[in-house]
Amino acid sequence: MVKGVKGMNDLFGQDAAKWIRMEEDIRRIISSSGYGEIRTPMVEELALFKRGVGETTDVVKKEMYDFHDKKGRHIALRPEGTAGTVRAFVEHGMGINFPSPLKCYYIGPFFRYERPQKGRYRQFHQLGIEVFGDDTAEMDGEMISIAYRIMTHFKLDVEVHINSIGCAQCRPAYHETIKEFFSEKKEELCSDCKERLETNPMRILDCKICKPKERWSETPVMINHLCDDCSTHFSRLQNALDIFHVAFVVDPFIVRGLDYYTKTAFEIVANTGGSQNAVAGGGRYDNLVRDLGGQPTPATGFAAGLERLFDLIPADFFHNQPLAVAYTLTADGVEQLVHFSKHISHHPVKVIVDYKPRKIKKALQRANRFGARWVFIIGEDEVKHETILVKDLEKGEQREYKQYEVMNIVQMLIKSSL
Ligand code: HAM
Repeated sequence: MVKGVKGMNDLFGQDAAKWIRMEEDIRRIISSSGYGEIRTPMVEELALFKRGVGETTDVVKKEMYDFHDKKGRHIALRPEGTAGTVRAFVEHGMGINFPSPLKCYYIGPFFRYERPQKGRYRQFHQLGIEVFGDDTAEMDGEMISIAYRIMTHFKLDVEVHINSIGCAQCRPAYHETIKEFFSEKKEELCSDCKERLETNPMRILDCKICKPKERWSETPVMINHLCDDCSTHFSRLQNALDIFHVAFVVDPFIVRGLDYYTKTAFEIVANTGGSQNAVAGGGRYDNLVRDLGGQPTPATGFAAGLERLFDLIPADFFHNQPLAVAYTLTADGVEQLVHFSKHISHHPVKVIVDYKPRKIKKALQRANRFGARWVFIIGEDEVKHETILVKDLEKGEQREYKQYEVMNIVQMLIKSSL
C-alpha cells in the first residue's frame, strides 16, 4: 500500500465540513474590513525566498522543499506567503495600478520540511493578510486586531504578545550591544546560537534551547534602544490596540523567525501550554518591497496557522449543520429524483441524493447513519401524484408536498432550524 507523504494530512468527513465553515467565517471577517483575496502560485523561484525571507533563517536554510525543474530552474514550494505576495505586488505594478493602501489576504497550503508533530506539519495551511502603502502604527493595530478578532470569533483562549524590533536607524547599534552581551556567554550558547552570534544575534533572544528570557534577566532588549521614530510608533501602536480592545502584553523577547521585519513584531499564543502554541504571527516589513525590486513601499501583515486554529476551536462551536437525505422506493421514481436533485443543486442547502431504489426500512437506516434530520421519499404513490414525502426524524412527523413546491420547503426547513 502506498501511504501519504510524512507530515502531510488528508482532510475528510466532519473535519472537512468544519474546515470549510472555518474558512467561510474567516473570509467573512476579513473581507468585511475591505481586504480582497490574492492567489499566488504554490511554487516560486528559490531565489525569492532567499532574498525575501533571508538566507540565514531556519525556514530557508533547513526547511525548504526545493528542486530543479526540467529546464534546470531552481524552484521551491512556498514556505510562507509574504515573499510571493510582495513579488506579485511588484511584478504587477500594484503600487501604481491600484488605490493605496492595498489590503489583501490569502488562504492556502504552505510547505516546510520540519520534524512533524502535533501542530507542526510539512504541508500546513495559513490565512494571511498583507497591507501595502501605509506606514502608520494604526494600520499595524488594525492588522493585529483582525487576527485577534478571528481568534475571539472562534472562542480561542489566546494572548497577544507585541514587540518592536527597530529599524535600520536603531538596530545596528543594538546588534553590537547584544553581540557583546552574548559573546561573553558564548560557551553557554547552543551551536545554532553560536552561529547566530555572527549572522543575526537578535535571533538568540527567542531560541528555544538557550532560553535567554528565563536565564539572563539582564539581557539587553530592543525596546530600550529604539530611535525616536520607532519609539513613537510603538506607543501609538499600543494606543491603537487599546482602542481596538485588543488585550496585549509587551514581550521584548519576540523577534520572529523571518528576516524582513522592521518595527512592529507580534505573535498570538494559545494558553494551552503546548509547544506548538503560536497560532499567528507577523509584523511590519517596510523594506521588503524595495529589497525585491519595487519602489520603497511600507507594508505590514500577519499569518495564522489554520491547523493550529482548527484544533483549538471548542468542539461545540460548529453545531451540526442539519442534513437531509433523499430516496426513492421505486425504479419509477428515479427520474423524479433526478429532477429534484437538479433543483436543489441550485440552492445553498445540504441534501444528499441516493438514486438507487431502496426499501423504506433500509432508506431510513441509511439516513440515520448520515445523521440526517429529514428524509425525502418518492414512493409509488408519490410518483403517481408527483408529490414527495418529507419525514422529520427529530420530531417524528411527516408530510406530503407537491414536488414543484418542495425546494421552497427544503430551504424553509433547513434555514429555520439553523
Ligand atoms: P510564521 O510565524 O512563520 O509567519 O507563520 C505563521 C503561522 O503559521 C505560525 O504562527 C503557525 O501558526 C503557522 N505555522 C508555521 N509553520 C507551521 C508548520 N510547520 N505547521 C503548522 N503550522 C505552522 C509567516 O509565515 C509570515 N509570512 C507572517 C507574515 C505575514 N508576516 C507578515 N505578513
